[in-house]
Amino acid sequence: MSMYYLPLIFLQFVLAWLLGVAALAASQALPGCENRCGNISIPYPFGTKEGCYIEETFFVTCNVSFSPPKLYFTNSAIEITDLFLSGQLRVSSWIARDCYNKQHLRVRKNDPWMRFRKFPISHTRNKFVAVGCDTYAVITGSQGRDYTTGCLSLCDSIGNVINGSCSGIGCCEAIIPKEVRSFNISVNSYENHTNVWDFNPCSYGFVVEDNTYNFSSLDLQNFQNRTSVPVVLDWSIGNETCNTAEQNLTSFACKENSQCSNFDNGPGYRCNCSEGYEGNPYLSNGCQDIDECKISRPCNMTCHNLLGTYNCSCPEGYEGDGRKNGSGCSRIPSKKLPLVNIALGISISISVLLLGGSWLYWGFRQRKIIKLREKFFEQNGGIMLQQQLLKRDGSLQSSKRHGSVKSFEIFTEESLKKATNNYHESRILGQGGQGTVYKGILPDNTIVAIKKSKIGDKSQIEQFINEVTILSQINHINVVKLLGCCLETQVPLLVYEFVTNGTLFDHIHTRSRSTSSITWENRLRIANETAGVLSYLHSAADPPIIHRDVKSNNILLDENCTAKVSDFGASRLFPTDQSQLATLVQGTFGYLDPEYFHTSQLTEKSDVYSFGVLLVELLTGKMALSFDRPENERNLAVYFVSSMKEDRLFEIVDEQTVNEAKAEQLRGVANLAKRCLELKGDERPTMKEIGIELEGLRMMEKHSWVTDNKNSEETQYLLGDISDAYGGGGGGGSTSISAAYDSMTNHVMSSFEGGR
Ligand SMILES: *[C@@H]1O[C@H](CO)[C@@H](O)[C@H](O)[C@H]1NC(C)=O
Ligand SMILES: *[C@@H]1O[C@H](CO)[C@@H](O)[C@H](O)[C@H]1NC(C)=O
Ligand SMILES: *[C@@H]1O[C@H](CO)[C@@H](O)[C@H](O)[C@H]1NC(C)=O
Ligand SMILES: *[C@@H]1O[C@H](CO)[C@@H](O)[C@H](O)[C@H]1NC(C)=O
Ligand SMILES: *[C@@H]1O[C@H](CO)[C@@H](O)[C@H](O)[C@H]1NC(C)=O
Ligand SMILES: *[C@@H]1O[C@H](CO)[C@@H](O)[C@H](O)[C@H]1NC(C)=O
Ligand SMILES: *[C@@H]1O[C@H](CO)[C@@H](O)[C@H](O)[C@H]1NC(C)=O
Ligand SMILES: *[C@@H]1O[C@H](CO)[C@@H](O)[C@H](O)[C@H]1NC(C)=O
Ligand SMILES: *[C@@H]1O[C@H](CO)[C@@H](O)[C@H](O)[C@H]1NC(C)=O
Ligand SMILES: *[C@@H]1O[C@H](CO)[C@@H](O)[C@H](O)[C@H]1NC(C)=O
Ligand SMILES: *[C@@H]1O[C@H](CO)[C@@H](O)[C@H](O)[C@H]1NC(C)=O
Ligand SMILES: *[C@@H]1O[C@H](CO)[C@@H](O)[C@H](O)[C@H]1NC(C)=O
Repeated sequence: MSMYYLPLIFLQFVLAWLLGVAALAASQALPGCENRCGNISIPYPFGTKEGCYIEETFFVTCNVSFSPPKLYFTNSAIEITDLFLSGQLRVSSWIARDCYNKQHLRVRKNDPWMRFRKFPISHTRNKFVAVGCDTYAVITGSQGRDYTTGCLSLCDSIGNVINGSCSGIGCCEAIIPKEVRSFNISVNSYENHTNVWDFNPCSYGFVVEDNTYNFSSLDLQNFQNRTSVPVVLDWSIGNETCNTAEQNLTSFACKENSQCSNFDNGPGYRCNCSEGYEGNPYLSNGCQDIDECKISRPCNMTCHNLLGTYNCSCPEGYEGDGRKNGSGCSRIPSKKLPLVNIALGISISISVLLLGGSWLYWGFRQRKIIKLREKFFEQNGGIMLQQQLLKRDGSLQSSKRHGSVKSFEIFTEESLKKATNNYHESRILGQGGQGTVYKGILPDNTIVAIKKSKIGDKSQIEQFINEVTILSQINHINVVKLLGCCLETQVPLLVYEFVTNGTLFDHIHTRSRSTSSITWENRLRIANETAGVLSYLHSAADPPIIHRDVKSNNILLDENCTAKVSDFGASRLFPTDQSQLATLVQGTFGYLDPEYFHTSQLTEKSDVYSFGVLLVELLTGKMALSFDRPENERNLAVYFVSSMKEDRLFEIVDEQTVNEAKAEQLRGVANLAKRCLELKGDERPTMKEIGIELEGLRMMEKHSWVTDNKNSEETQYLLGDISDAYGGGGGGGSTSISAAYDSMTNHVMSSFEGGR
């Protein structure tokens, strides 16, 4: 027998497979079976002919003489309005009624009964309702479970009833028990509707699907001519449990990719497609994989549909579970790991190479090092310096030098390395275009500043030699002392006296410092001292020296707030036989003489201009150049001059200064600054005139004629003495922009340096 069936089953299987998705989507019936009746779909296990249903109870009939066609249980008058694969079906159920005439005699009585074979009424989705104002209704059942229940509904007038409420006034209801497969309904009246006949001649009783019947007072009259109401029935397969049924796979109704569940409203079981599948679980291959990727789009980026499930993934460079309701996909912030690995690999191999290399190199180096030192010494202008030293020493004998200033010293590379803790970062005092300045401690505990230029910059080396040469010619109390140098290294190192109190720039612009440290009196004195130095450079020295980079960053302050002018790297010896000198434009924007910038003709008046800017800086407490300010205020000098023209001096002067200074003094200094800032160099005063004027303004403040006895020393000038002065920390300060202007090619080059 089983041999007999196999080909058939196989054929069914193939047919089902061949018909595929189209058949599945359109119908849930077996192949060759009707799958519709009108617009009611007929899924297997229901069928309209033999071989199309699973068992006799699922045999249904479509009566096409109605339009649209109506579906019935075969050999029954019960009309089916819906069939659901989930295990329900909807039928239309009759209404019991009991009607009376005006004479209180019964004119109509219907007590219907319904038997649904093995399909119980869904106890969760139906209820029993009676409508009437003189009514009691009873529902009884015998198949499956014997039961009797009912309800009582009364009311005196139509005004008492509440639309939508079924609680005993005009309408009452009762729940349906489990496993009820048939019912007889009976409605009756106590008083033949005698007192309510006007508005309620009949009583009604029916079983109805939840949420489809809403009691209305209109129903009391004639139930709005309705003859049937919907009822939901449950259906199940067979009379066994899942465990028993699945013993015989031939008869087991649940096919591939489905699950069996025991029926909870009577005997039998139901089937359900497994999660991730959909279709008809009672058909072979009925449960089809759901393409979640297309239907619910659960993934954020890449979705793989798998049988019964799906997975989400993220493309390379993304991380996360890929699920929309999970962590989704997010870009991996940066390829840190591989980079770190690569960097690690590279640095390890480099280290190995370096280690091996340096071991080999060490021996080599020891031999070379002496040669190298000699070479550097030569390269760094050592020979030239030696010659100059000799020359100076010669002239020293003839000069009337007094006092023993610590003489110029040639330091060894080794000693400076020690002094700066091998140029340790913590020893850095300042960094700028010129190079780096370190704090050094000499073996005798003297603290010095050591300036190291940038490696490989020839022009820097030139500037160093320039500075040595210039500083060797000046001896001034307000100039940083150059104590010595070291020429054995690739870049020359200059050793200066250590000036403890930072730069003037810091004092003016760093608000965290106590503002009192830079009182007006101090400002005026520092200006005067600086003017003294410049005046001395311009007139007393021979040949004259132009500093070329006068700015608050290059004025150091010692513990007494005495000014020490520094950084002579850019300075030029100014040949006496030439009044003007065409040269590379150097300086700091904001302080740079515009005339010099345009003509590249260097004169002493360029320093005067820069000094003028310094005076304004002291007056206003504002930086020479700041891009944080509005456009017309960016360049302090320009802003100052225009403010002076508009007679707004007191608006731009530092508040502290206004409080401390006399108005006369302020006006005096401001006018002096304004003259310094004349566009034409010729119209600017000389440094000497400035010095005298400032001195006068200072006296005004002191109300005394006591002069600083320092000034007598100031003009000490010893041609033959190489000592003194240090060109300070190139610019530990603000953003300064140095411009280089090559007059020969008319080509402007700028280098930007950001301090801090
Ligand atoms: C079936 O057809 C009738 C009338 O043609 C319509 O009222 C009803 O909504 C349809 N039912 C379904 C489930 O389409
Ligand atoms: C269809 O319904 C009509 C009218 O109720 C009835 O006469 C006929 O016998 C029915 N046909 C079938 C096949 O049940
Ligand atoms: C109620 O109706 C029944 C049946 O028509 C009748 O026998 C009975 O007498 C009536 N009762 C009254 C009080 O009218
Ligand atoms: C109930 O609603 C109907 C219309 O749906 C209305 O005509 C009737 O007056 C209402 N009855 C009550 C008691 O509100
Ligand atoms: C039933 O009737 C009430 C009042 O007329 C209304 O608020 C409610 O929405 C109705 N419910 C349904 C299911 O029709
Ligand atoms: C229901 O009604 C049918 C037909 O009148 C009758 O044969 C059956 O006994 C009734 N069942 C009950 C429980 O009253
Ligand atoms: C109910 O039927 C009666 C008689 O056929 C008719 O007069 C009435 O208008 C109908 N009522 C409704 C609500 O259809
Ligand atoms: C279950 O159904 C089979 C036929 O389908 C029948 O022979 C058997 O008696 C039924 N068993 C019970 C407990 O109803
Ligand atoms: C399994 O079911 C088939 C079909 O109903 C039947 O022919 C067969 O005898 C059953 N086998 C067992 C072991 O019950
Ligand atoms: C069938 O399975 C779906 C999910 O796969 C579930 O939501 C549903 O409740 C199940 N139905 C029954 C009757 O077990
Ligand atoms: C997702 O499925 C695809 C296809 O089977 C597979 O290649 C991929 O590795 C899977 N990804 C995850 C995260 O499981
Ligand atoms: C999903 O991807 C989009 C971009 O494709 C992104 O904006 C969104 O945040 C992602 N959602 C989640 C939950 O990760």
